[in-house]
Amino acid sequence: MMSENNIKKGRFIVFEGLDGSGKSTQMNLLCDRLQRMGRTVYRTAEPTELTTGGLIRDALAGNYTRTPEELSALFLSDRIAHNVNPQNGIIKLLNDGIDVVCDRYYYSSFAYQGMDSDLDWVMAMNVNCPTITKPDVCFFIDVPSEIAKGRVDKRGAFLEIFEREESTLARIRQKYLEVFEKLKDDNIVIIPSDGTPEEVAEKVFANLPKA
Ligand code: TYD
Repeated sequence: MMSENNIKKGRFIVFEGLDGSGKSTQMNLLCDRLQRMGRTVYRTAEPTELTTGGLIRDALAGNYTRTPEELSALFLSDRIAHNVNPQNGIIKLLNDGIDVVCDRYYYSSFAYQGMDSDLDWVMAMNVNCPTITKPDVCFFIDVPSEIAKGRVDKRGAFLEIFEREESTLARIRQKYLEVFEKLKDDNIVIIPSDGTPEEVAEKVFANLPKA
């Protein structure tokens, strides 16, 4: 009989970075490569498309002002829903042996909300939540804030609250680096985005935990 420990679970792979860091491109390249290798991959993102994600998007657009603590709690609630959703939640997918590739996760809450509210509180409520899965790896696609801001502006899309000032992006980058120093038990890989997308993708792939 197979014990629960013998069941092969999918990998939970998180991408983090500033807005405009190029993480979407890296996620595309990794998902394509895993699929070519015959893996079943599920790509997802936070904030989610669930009801909680909608409340968050209103705040990010600046339509509705939220305190950093309210935002932290909304992201927490969205993250729990993202994990436990019985149809396509992270916990179910991983148990089905599917690799889950997620655009942002609790590291974003630590960097973005931790910047304006109590970082230890934000970290504790996420890390200690029993239904929030710990990632197998977090890839931080690292670019200088000037480059990130340049890319965000070039998109020509409406700017969300955290994308408006280069100085905000610079503070967020510093916060990410500070948070990573505190998380020595997490598998965090900082990837300087200083080559072609394919060269950066090779560095990501080389640091992927074994299936
Ligand atoms: P983003 O990945 O930029 O989504 P989109 O490309 O659809 O705009 O994420 C939206 C914003 O949400 C981004 O500025 C980071 C922020 N964010 C937080 O502040 N805390 C969090 O916990 C998460 C997941 C995102």
